[in-house]
This record gives sequence, structure tokens and C-alpha cells, in this order.
Amino acid sequence: VSGIRIDVTAPSGRYPIVIEPGLIGRLPAVLADAAFSERRFIVSSPTVWKFHGTAVRRVLPQDECVLVPDGERAKTLATVGRIYDALIRAQADRGAGIVAIGGGVIGDTAGFAAATYLRGIQVAHVPTTLLAQVDSAVGGKVGVNHALGKNLIGAFHQPRAVIADPALLATLPRREFRAGLYEVVKYGMAFDAALFEQLRASLRSIMDRSIDALTPIIAASCRIKVAVVQEDERERGPRRLLNFGHTAGHAFEALTRYRRFRHGEAIAWGMLVAAEVSMARGALDAAGRDALGALITALGPLPPIADLAATDALEAIRRDKKVVNGRLHFVIATGVGKAAVVDDVTEAEIRAALVRTGTRA
Ligand SMILES: NC(=O)c1ccc[n+]([C@@H]2O[C@H](COP(=O)([O-])OP(=O)(O)OC[C@H]3O[C@@H](n4cnc5c(N)ncnc54)[C@H](O)[C@@H]3O)[C@@H](O)[C@H]2O)c1
Ligand SMILES: [Zn+2]
Repeated sequence: VSGIRIDVTAPSGRYPIVIEPGLIGRLPAVLADAAFSERRFIVSSPTVWKFHGTAVRRVLPQDECVLVPDGERAKTLATVGRIYDALIRAQADRGAGIVAIGGGVIGDTAGFAAATYLRGIQVAHVPTTLLAQVDSAVGGKVGVNHALGKNLIGAFHQPRAVIADPALLATLPRREFRAGLYEVVKYGMAFDAALFEQLRASLRSIMDRSIDALTPIIAASCRIKVAVVQEDERERGPRRLLNFGHTAGHAFEALTRYRRFRHGEAIAWGMLVAAEVSMARGALDAAGRDALGALITALGPLPPIADLAATDALEAIRRDKKVVNGRLHFVIATGVGKAAVVDDVTEAEIRAALVRTGTRA
């Protein structure tokens, strides 16, 4: 498999997303190509470093390295503070740059530190989870959680480069890997029938993490996110389609206090709810709904929703930020590979879809 390069045009300039197995061994060259700072600070986590630190050290032996915890509970201003501490102690100036090596939590926190330290220094993302490679490292959103809610503190800060090495995913726990795959299913269902078909056709090799099977689906996912985000930097129109499955998905996460589901797992349920809503209004045929259901089933079991009440889910949806001026923006599927945002979905429709998907009434 040869390398894939996607050039992204952001208001702050152009930057490359490079996707290639073994890329971690060529970090210095890719960074140099992107005119990245020579005063580099690696930010990673002990877990990621345990698996991949040696490979990074082989090519970047001199760079300062800050290890901070990852996982959702570590996505806080306190973690950002530890990154600031390291930068200040080392007297990093405006010319310094952060190389964030990790999953979405490392990318979001290190990216936020880069966005705010001295009003902004460079960041390069080296995503190490499937979710980060197909989603969080692309688009320039960075930030952390607050005790009162997820992702409440943040900024837009475009990277100088995104360096995705699919071989790094070999060490990912199976559950994390699958959680990332559901976001790929989302791209397929909402944007790209060919990607959806590719997932179906090579499911076995993808689950085995065959590099040849993974590389093209990561690239296809990045292309979709880039296309949507480029059109819509600040999340008004098309970017909303990325929220397919996220209305009910976020509600399931919130109802279980972010403990039961990995984000992607909740989104898998959310997509099934969205498909039911879509079918009930005649936007999606049964074959489309069944194709989505079959693919999600083939990826393996999900944590249950049978004990969650539709009424509680609706309340969580009402509290979610996708309600604009009292109107809920809901993404429906209009076919495999096609979606649309509507603002007239009623609570009764969502309730019915929740129950048909398997929640309590
Ligand atoms: N910025 C955005 O646009 C955006 C988009 C989607 C999600 N996100 C954010 O991303 C976060 C979730 O990211 P995530 O799922 O990557 O979680 P994560 O960063 O917490 O990583 C999940 C787990 O995998 C481990 N890990 C990472 N890479 C590994 C590897 N190669 N081998 C073995 N273990 C590895 C980590 O140590 C961690 O325990 C959420 O906070 C979410 O809000 C941001
Ligand atoms: Zn998501």
C-alpha cells in the first residue's frame, strides 16, 4: 500500500493529511515537508508511549516529551495545565510546536494547549486510535470537558499536518477499534454508498486490521470529513450531517453518565434510531434501514439500551445543544450514502423510533 495524501485548505492555510502504514518511522521527513517547527514538544500518554514510544524515539530522539493521561476523564483543563507547565519550564516560545501522539483525548487537549499557549503555536496530529484517524484529528476542533459538560471549553486550531499510520492501530483494544468503526459506518451511511459497500465487502479483513483494508477506509473517511468541514468551517450547514446518529447517541451517553458506551457504540444505536425516524417518514426504505442494521450487527454486540426509558432519552435530547431556537435539528438518512438535516421532527416521532429500536417506552 502506498501513501495517501489529502490536502486541506483551511482559513489559516493549507496542510496535508498523510495516511500510510509505517509513517511513524518517517515522522521527521513528514514534519519537515509541512514546514513544522524544529522546536518540537511531543505530547502523548503513558499507554500510547508504552506501545509506540520506542518507534517515535528512534526517529525523534531529542525532542522533549510530555506524557499526560488520556481517556475521557483526563480531558480537562488540569491536563492542559500540565502541558503548559512543560512548555513554560522549557521556555518554549511562539516558534515551538506540539506533536500530539495519541487518541482523540490527547489530540483535543494538546491541540487546545497549542491553540492557547502564547495565543497559539503549531500543532501536528499523529492520531493513534481509529476514531482519531477518521474523525477527531481532522477539522481543527480542539478542547476539553468541564465538570458540568463535555467539550464545553474549546477553540478552532488547524494543525500543520495530520500524520496517520494505520499500523499503529494493531495495538488498539478491540473495543476501541470497533468504536471507531461505527464512525466509519456513519460516513458510509450519511455520505458515501461506495464506502458503505466497501465496509460490507471487506468486513473480515477490516476486523483483522489488515492494513490493505484499513488504509482506504481511513482515507475515504478523512476525505469526507475534510470536504464537509472545508465547506463549513464553523458548523452551520453541511457539517451538521456529520451528526447523523448523534442526537439519540448523545442522549444514550448522557443517560448512562458516559460510563456504559464508548462514544461510537452510542452512535451505532443512535444511527439505528435515526434510520427508524427516516423510515417512518418515508425518507428511507426498509432495505436501507436493514442494510444499516445488518452492518452494525455484523460488527458485534453493543451494550444494551433496553433498560433506558424513551422519556429520559427525549429529555436528554432536549438539553442537547443541537436544539437551536427551540427547534431540533435532526439528521435523517434518505438512502444508503445520503442524508439530510430536517428541523420538523417531532418528539412523538423520536419516541416511536426509540421504542422500535429497543428502549423502554
Ligand atoms: N476534535 C474533534 O473534532 C473530535 C471529534 C470526535 C471525537 N473527539 C473527541 O475524541 C475523544 C475520544 O477519542 P478516542 O476514542 O481516541 O479516546 P482516547 O484518546 O481516550 O483513546 C482511547 C484509549 O485508547 C488508548 N490508545 C490510544 N492509542 C492506542 C494505541 N495505538 N494502542 C493501544 N491503545 C491506544 C488510550 O490510551 C485510551 O485508553 C473524545 O473526547 C471526543 O470528544 C473530538
Ligand atoms: Zn461522533
